[in-house]
Amino acid sequence: MSAHSPVVSQLPLPPMASWRSSLRGFKQSPPDFLLDLYRAHGDILRFRGFFTVYCLNHPEFVRQVLTKAWPDYTKKTIDYRVIAGTLGKGLVTNDGPDWAHQRRLMQPVFANRHINKFDTVINDMTALTAERWRAAGEDPVRLDLDMSRVAFQVVSRTLFGAEIDEVADEMVGFLNELNQHPLRLSALLTMYPRIPLPSNRRFLHTKARLHEIVDGLVAAHGTNAEGEPDIVDHLLAARDEDSGLGMDADQIRDEIITLMLAGHETSATSLTWTFYLLSQHPEIEQRLLAELDQVLGGRPATSADLANLPYLKQVVQESMRIYPPVWGIARRSSEDSEFGGFHVPANSYLAITMHVLHRHPEFWSEPERFDPDRFAPGSGKSRHSYAYLPFAAGPRACIGASMAMLEVQLVLAQLIQQFRVTPVAGHPVIPEAVVTLKTRFGMPVTVKPR
Ligand code: HEM
Repeated sequence: MSAHSPVVSQLPLPPMASWRSSLRGFKQSPPDFLLDLYRAHGDILRFRGFFTVYCLNHPEFVRQVLTKAWPDYTKKTIDYRVIAGTLGKGLVTNDGPDWAHQRRLMQPVFANRHINKFDTVINDMTALTAERWRAAGEDPVRLDLDMSRVAFQVVSRTLFGAEIDEVADEMVGFLNELNQHPLRLSALLTMYPRIPLPSNRRFLHTKARLHEIVDGLVAAHGTNAEGEPDIVDHLLAARDEDSGLGMDADQIRDEIITLMLAGHETSATSLTWTFYLLSQHPEIEQRLLAELDQVLGGRPATSADLANLPYLKQVVQESMRIYPPVWGIARRSSEDSEFGGFHVPANSYLAITMHVLHRHPEFWSEPERFDPDRFAPGSGKSRHSYAYLPFAAGPRACIGASMAMLEVQLVLAQLIQQFRVTPVAGHPVIPEAVVTLKTRFGMPVTVKPR
């Protein structure tokens, strides 16, 4: 039966999870709550929170939404509407023909031939963290904050070059302030910015300051760009093939703010969890160190080295399986659809949860075990390709996936060769699902030079 067959609406609705468990469980830990629902009800179910949500837990259903019939599943969801208050019409929150046009313009900017040249910037920014870690001595450092700093420095330098350094701290402050949990009341209220509330006034003021800084940087950039082109050079030069037109100033600004936000907390989260997992699995850490030592002998890795460091990649892939930085995404169906014999009505909210897919027992044995060999060359060939989706899939997959993989591997390779990273004993390590899977109480660690 096709997804648009007229009899779809006569199919049964998916099983409904008990409403009692819904809101409280969802508030405590959305990813674990959705995993519990999967264990109780299987590959498709619905639950009632603020509204009815349909959970699609089988990779084949996910393929239908993200790839096979993707235009039928939009981003017209509350969380994306809230995020759009900050990101405007940037790639993450744009939709429809406007999005398709922007994606076409921006795709070449993220071609590997450009991205691979960022290895020097990534290594230079990582070296600044290494310097600070060396100065820390026995004192704990905040791994999560340090990874956030290095990831921000990387994305901002690759966007603008060194000229951003002076305003970088101020920008991080603004971005963090704007990047609240999209379902928090103050965030929801930003959808109605004209309501004269102190939180809305603060939001508009912060956003205006951020716009001012970005516009200033872009204006200055246009006049002094020299040397290796950075991402902003590419954005300014991008032209539509048919019309020959480039992006207007508002669009450029929205894309820049989008790349800054989408491209820094995600990579930082991945790095934080990868260091944590390695600290808990010394035998895997040793194997990684042996590979790094053999190929690099203590020096930082370049893009070209990565082909000779297969275990490094496996470690990062497996870390993103257990702790997917983007733990779940939402879509809205614009048509009635069928999934596995069930009817999902038009206009429904759909939840795709990487945290659940990455633990689906049909595709992963002992899913809680950290085992980078799951990604060894040749293994997992029969695994469904949508059972592992840290960067999503289909036309709206992460545009920065190659850059993120390069960055996470290079930062990790440099720092782990130089430091033994050990979480402070007794400090609670609890994931907190905001847009990314952060650590609720941060991650203090000691960093002992090797
Ligand atoms: C480990 C790091 C990263 C992870 C796990 C990640 C994950 C994701 C995921 C899951 C999506 C799809 C969201 C959805 O469809 O609802 C996405 C989209 C996106 N990501 Fe990433 N991302 C990472 C790093 C980056 C970087 C470094 C950049 C850019 C500098 C970036 C830019 C974007 C953009 C612009 C989109 C929207 C693409 C579109 O809809 O056309 N991401 N990312």
